Amino acid sequence: MQNWKTMAPRATLLYRSLFCLAMLAMAGAADDPPHSQCLDNPPDLTAGGGEAGMVIGDLAGFQAYITGAVHSRRTVLLATDIFGFEAPLLRTIADKFGQAGYYVVVPDFFHGQPYTLDLNRTEWLAAHSPVKAAEDAKSIFAALSNEGRSVVGVGGYCWGGKLAVEVAKTNEVEAIVVSHPAAVTVDDMKEVKWPIEIIGAQNDTVTPPKLVDQFVHALQQRTDHIDYFAKVFQGVNHGFACRYNASNPFEVKRAEQALALMLDWFHKHLK
Ligand SMILES: *[C@@H]1O[C@H](CO)[C@@H](O)[C@H](O)[C@H]1NC(C)=O
Ligand SMILES: *[C@@H]1O[C@H](CO)[C@@H](O)[C@H](O)[C@H]1NC(C)=O
Ligand SMILES: *[C@@H]1O[C@H](CO)[C@@H](O)[C@H](O)[C@H]1NC(C)=O
Repeated sequence: MQNWKTMAPRATLLYRSLFCLAMLAMAGAADDPPHSQCLDNPPDLTAGGGEAGMVIGDLAGFQAYITGAVHSRRTVLLATDIFGFEAPLLRTIADKFGQAGYYVVVPDFFHGQPYTLDLNRTEWLAAHSPVKAAEDAKSIFAALSNEGRSVVGVGGYCWGGKLAVEVAKTNEVEAIVVSHPAAVTVDDMKEVKWPIEIIGAQNDTVTPPKLVDQFVHALQQRTDHIDYFAKVFQGVNHGFACRYNASNPFEVKRAEQALALMLDWFHKHLK
């Protein structure tokens, strides 16, 4: 694994902006769409059960899965990938943040309409922009604040990674983690205001390691010294942190390592 804090930036690398959302948009218009890793390994929605939390109907206008330490002011909001908040593995991850002492919310940013493989991707994405969702999420952060949940971190996966960087440009959060994000740009790294951890995957064509490198370079260039940390996990694909194969010990281990890094980041920055 590469720890980018200790590596010199490869500043001269050219890279193609093969962002997930752009690829999905292109895919919608073509007869033979390029494959997007954002669509790989969709969650098995029948594999649920054993969840520690529950779904509430109205968190500032959103359904949400909530779990964890009810009385904690330290809150982790998880922003999902396109497959949404019903994914059993994602809820397992949420429960683990809960066991670590956080109040955890996983809003249904798609209002009951997550992406499914039978949908037109272009149209779905047009209707579910992570940038707009970050705007809409203001009501959620306000509701959390009204409940006394004054310290909030956001962990975003894929689609949710873009939402996370958008809210990190506001004063609504104290720290974020983006795992194999989609549609996050180098310019975003110039605008985030809070500590950011970036978790990448070696085999990620959506946010490839060289793009993670560019993110780090942009963060290094900043004169206002945003705290950041980035790691690219070897031997895994885009999606590995939340859509792993629970029967594959290697994939489980990698997802656990990603989760441990997220926990470290939030322990450090959510005081
Ligand atoms: C998806 O929707 C877009 C926009 O409405 C349309 O141009 C495209 O042909 C559709 N793709 C498929 C495969 O139906
Ligand atoms: C990388 O990901 C693609 C799926 O997007 C997969 O077909 C390929 O086998 C993966 N490569 C490795 C080394 O895992
Ligand atoms: C999950 O991993 C197990 C063990 O490696 C393997 O037998 C199984 O085919 C994998 N399932 C999928 C859907 O890749």
